[in-house]
Amino acid sequence: MSNVDRVVLVLGGAGTVGSGIVKALLDKGFRVAVISRESSRLERLRSFVSPNTTQDLITIVGNVGCEEGAEQVKQALLKEAGKVTDVVSSLGFSWWQRGPPHTQTLKDLHWVVETLLFSTFVSWKAFFPLVRDDSDCTYTFITGGAGEKLLMPGTGFLTVGAASTLAFCQVLREEYPDVPCKLNQVKIDTGVATPERLAPGYLNHLDLGEAVAALVERRNTSHTTFTVNCPEDLKTVFVEKNL
Ligand SMILES: NC(=O)c1ccc[n+]([C@@H]2O[C@H](COP(=O)([O-])OP(=O)(O)OC[C@H]3O[C@@H](n4cnc5c(N)ncnc54)[C@H](OP(=O)(O)O)[C@@H]3O)[C@@H](O)[C@H]2O)c1
Repeated sequence: MSNVDRVVLVLGGAGTVGSGIVKALLDKGFRVAVISRESSRLERLRSFVSPNTTQDLITIVGNVGCEEGAEQVKQALLKEAGKVTDVVSSLGFSWWQRGPPHTQTLKDLHWVVETLLFSTFVSWKAFFPLVRDDSDCTYTFITGGAGEKLLMPGTGFLTVGAASTLAFCQVLREEYPDVPCKLNQVKIDTGVATPERLAPGYLNHLDLGEAVAALVERRNTSHTTFTVNCPEDLKTVFVEKNL
């Protein structure tokens, strides 16, 4: 199956990390679908990708964080694209540093876990059946790290949320060891930003996008976690693991 015949759903594709992935996939000739709760974010995405690829970008307004919403957008997507061959899940938020736990409420913790974990689970449950039994298909999770690098004053709930998503990815690898679909994870243990907002040690979202697009394109690893700690890792980590 060549790239033009593949339809990649990028969950969180209108975000900082997701938009770099969407652009790189479109540049490689894939059809790409993106769901966002905000039509303005989808319009911004459309003007961000290479102009000669916009005809291959499918955008749908919807919420994949609840079961009903995920089912609705799934039906809308299948109607428009006919199929989904690959999923990249890059849901969540960029940063959270609102204070130590005793200053936060249950509602704050709920929001963090809902955005990082619940949306990842609900969308996986809706979309994984479309790809799980085909070895030509892929499902790739983008996550943050949850170690010492992340834990600093005020980021506690972010660490809790990131750790829960990491655990969920591990559970999937262990519960579905023989699934034909290529199930991989890219764990990013540093900041990611657009070129205008880059800080030392951060990944440019365009470079990260190219690395993830290559992973999706090649389909030659499964049940693998690619850990990226710094920009240099984008050149080595994926190569070491046979990409
Ligand atoms: N940015 C970083 O520095 C960094 C570093 C390491 C790891 N990461 C990881 O990368 C992932 C994405 O981060 P990001 O920086 O790209 O965040 P972002 O810019 O806030 O984008 C997150 C995306 O997730 C989407 N989303 C969340 N809940 C949703 C829902 N219920 N339904 C539909 N879409 C939903 C948002 O869609 P809407 O358009 O609907 O808001 C948004 O497009 C996260 O898992 C994060 O932990 C990021």
